[in-house]
Amino acid sequence: MPVTYSSYLKLDELLSLQEPVSDGPEHDETLFIIIHQIYELWFKELLHEVDYLKSLLGAQDASRASHTLKRILTILKVVVAQIDVLETMTPLEFLSFRARLESGSGFQSHQFRELEFVLGAKNAAALERYAIGGKARKGLERRLSEPTLWDAFLALLAAKGHPVPREALDRDVTRAVQPVPGLHPVLIAIYRSDPVLASLCERLVDLDEGVQEWRYRHVKMVQRTIGTKRGTGGSEGAAYLMTTLDRPIFPDLWEIRAEL
Ligand code: HEM
Repeated sequence: MPVTYSSYLKLDELLSLQEPVSDGPEHDETLFIIIHQIYELWFKELLHEVDYLKSLLGAQDASRASHTLKRILTILKVVVAQIDVLETMTPLEFLSFRARLESGSGFQSHQFRELEFVLGAKNAAALERYAIGGKARKGLERRLSEPTLWDAFLALLAAKGHPVPREALDRDVTRAVQPVPGLHPVLIAIYRSDPVLASLCERLVDLDEGVQEWRYRHVKMVQRTIGTKRGTGGSEGAAYLMTTLDRPIFPDLWEIRAEL
């Protein structure tokens, strides 16, 4: 059989994967399903690109790393902008099928957690939501034990001759990235004397800000759609999400700004 558009993209399978659970079914549930599926596809692509970015940093290829970072940042813009589409759904439209979601929530997106982990925002407790031995849990366990994008970046700085403190290079990679004050003079010197690496630092700040932007837009969408109700995932809802807003992934890159 010759390859066709449809066979290559497995369109029959793809387009049969939107199955509303509400009676009727409710009109808006189709949008809700498709948006979430699109998010999961973008998460998959982002993980694919961040893994590649890590390998480029490992190969000390700053130029291609910068190109890949640009792609990641562009996807992130699209991912944030997509919230506009879901915000066309009113609270009543959402309520028409919300109860049928039972305990299902984006809270359980293992790819979102993988993304957090690979960037540097690790949290071993997040594993507990996934069944031991299951595919999602195994993927997260692997990500938990692997060095993050931040670790790959610090290794590149050291390989380029910058005196990155051992404390930062040998950190426990299963933990979230913590600020290392001894790294600040190194980063400041890079900003002043190494334009290629300084530019990579700025792109990482863009990435960190992009993730924070998504969190902010998501919590606003939650507030306007369900107000102060609890989440289907079992959390306090918007109140919980507010606690995740101001947590930079690469804290040192933010802290040095006051010292530049
Ligand atoms: C009407 C739309 C939405 C509402 C009302 C909503 C609501 C919520 C709530 C209340 C939480 C907190 C956890 C819980 O108790 O459930 C949450 C978490 C989350 N949602 Fe949504 N959500 C919506 C759309 C989306 C979309 C489109 C995505 C894209 C994948 C998404 C991804 C996530 C993620 C990843 C979390 C975990 C965030 C974290 O723990 O930092 N949500 N959502």
